[in-house]
Amino acid sequence: MRFDPAAPLRGELTPPPDKSVSHRAALIGAMAEGPTRIMGYLDSADTRATLRAVSAVGAVVREGDADDHGGLFVEVEGIGLRGPRSAPIDVGNAGTLMRLMPGWLAGQREGEWTLDGDESIRRRPVDRIADPLARMGADVEARDGRLPPLLVRGAALRGIDYEMPVASAQVKSCLLLAGLLAEGTTTVHEPYWTRDHTERLLAAAGAEIRRDAGKITVAPTERLEAGDVPVPGDFSSAAFFIVAALILPGSEISLREVGINRARIGLLSILSRMGIEMGGPHEEDRAISVEEIREPGPEPIARLNVRTAPLRGAEVTAEDVPSAIDELPLVGLLGCFAEGETVVSGAAELRAKESDRIAGIVDGLAGLGAEIEGRPDGFAVRGTGGLPGGSLDARGDHRLAMLGAVAGLASRDGVEVRGFDAVEVSYPGFERDLRSLLD
Ligand code: S3P
Repeated sequence: MRFDPAAPLRGELTPPPDKSVSHRAALIGAMAEGPTRIMGYLDSADTRATLRAVSAVGAVVREGDADDHGGLFVEVEGIGLRGPRSAPIDVGNAGTLMRLMPGWLAGQREGEWTLDGDESIRRRPVDRIADPLARMGADVEARDGRLPPLLVRGAALRGIDYEMPVASAQVKSCLLLAGLLAEGTTTVHEPYWTRDHTERLLAAAGAEIRRDAGKITVAPTERLEAGDVPVPGDFSSAAFFIVAALILPGSEISLREVGINRARIGLLSILSRMGIEMGGPHEEDRAISVEEIREPGPEPIARLNVRTAPLRGAEVTAEDVPSAIDELPLVGLLGCFAEGETVVSGAAELRAKESDRIAGIVDGLAGLGAEIEGRPDGFAVRGTGGLPGGSLDARGDHRLAMLGAVAGLASRDGVEVRGFDAVEVSYPGFERDLRSLLD
């Protein structure tokens, strides 16, 4: 798929529903008693895998109509915390499903589940959940002790106090789900704050969950009732338009109903260090303004207005990483258009994503003419004010495919994105939405 240099972006858009929240809403809906109505469930390859997984273990999933921005109405008839039946689980490409669901399954009185997926998932570590689950008494077996497939057999669990060696919302969420079924309380300490969608949904469903600085504790729970769950727009999908509008001269766009959970919007803090002025309502003269802030469910949403503005290089370090983890490829692209150097460090986790994202960003952008260099835990890019263009390989990774598309619009000669269909994983309508802002 080719993306040629484009005119400014103009207009309004609602990004697709949040992927992280959709996965969790379906899983927690399956763990709950009675129906959970999910308003705006993301219709994508990853989140469809979760609907299939919860159906495989016995939940009943009813799908209603789609809204115009890829959100489905989904009703999940739960089977209760202790209800899942044995089944093989195919997670496809979905790391969140692979890491979260074993937490629920591990604490069952009986049953056996093998979680497996595509070639990319088979290269992604699961020892980060298998090790702490084993400490809780779980019966889990990973290939070579660290990779999928992951075999989980039901066992009696006991709560633990666990310091996560990496800041991972997936690991934290897995242990909190397991903690619901364990004897005694389970406490997870995180080195840096990570997305807290699981905590918010569990609290809304009636779980006893306590959050103090850097530490989350869950108590054993008899039953959950999730009720209605509205899903916010995905900030990580919206981020592609935010960055495109900032670097495509003359752009002015407005993004509706975007999730602005603080643990997800680290890109905005990075942008402010890159010289982007942020404002609140009635401050539309700022490059980015945030208005119409609402909280229709457990997650806050807002409208984001974005216009083109000059950028300067910035440093991104370990503490910035968790709240901007999926946006770091875009930081590489921003760096090409910024004055001076942009350096990302403390981000070795990027090597364990859908692809080795450090290699994907560095080789991808260098192939388009960027002055970028890889480091073991990040990259450094020298801004040249533009990007010549060429061809970029998505490496089966949805976020690299979308990065290539935005790079193409902002480039001098255009970009051919090889393997663009990887976008199906999180944003099947991405190309249509991007082009709608070009009309
Ligand atoms: C996610 C957490 C992050 C993120 C991923 C989704 C989640 O992964 O990169 O896209 O939904 O919990 P880690 O927990 O591995 O950092």
